[in-house]
Amino acid sequence: MIIAIDGPAGAGKSTVARALAKQLGYTYLDSGAMYRSVALVALRAGREPVQVAPQLTIDLGDRILVDGDDVTDEIRSPEVSEAASQAAADKDVRAAMVAEQRRLLSSGNWVAEGRDIGTVVAPDAELKIFLTADPRERARRRARDLGADAGTVLAEQTLRDERDRGREHSPLKPARGAVVVDTTSMSLEDVVRAVSDLL
Ligand code: DC
Repeated sequence: MIIAIDGPAGAGKSTVARALAKQLGYTYLDSGAMYRSVALVALRAGREPVQVAPQLTIDLGDRILVDGDDVTDEIRSPEVSEAASQAAADKDVRAAMVAEQRRLLSSGNWVAEGRDIGTVVAPDAELKIFLTADPRERARRRARDLGADAGTVLAEQTLRDERDRGREHSPLKPARGAVVVDTTSMSLEDVVRAVSDLL
């Protein structure tokens, strides 16, 4: 069983996917952490993401390990967020990540979260959700989580949204058959309940 949860940054994907996975006893797949890991390693090495992507071993558990190195906190920095959005626009980086994601999802029960899970990685997922929310509310949530200024977060988020939606390869959009859930005025509990009901 695969539950695919896609949508823009700050729509609540990670929180909802984690809570749902815990409730159902499924494994949580944070595909964004993979793009972030590639971006971080490329930044550190001064290389192109496409050069490092195929060689990395990324462990997605409670902590994110890249070739054994714990990068859980570092991949959340604004610098890595920006670099990850750029890396994710590269067709060959995506091909490497999608192959690994499909390998992981090929057995077991999953709640997989990202931008292209329902459209590309697992179009046959039993349940596809597209989570969305008003951009200002999304920025407010992220600013709260990061302890950052909401205006700055909104400006950066707008740029990344445009890149994620406008890119040539696997642009962010609801998958065929996805249920669109607007979380702007919903609590975490409301969203988890709504998705559980759909399931
Ligand atoms: O969900 P996130 O913010 O951690 O994702 C980081 C970047 O990776 C973001 O710019 C979108 C991109 N991404 C993607 O293109 N495809 C995915 N399946 C997951 C993330």
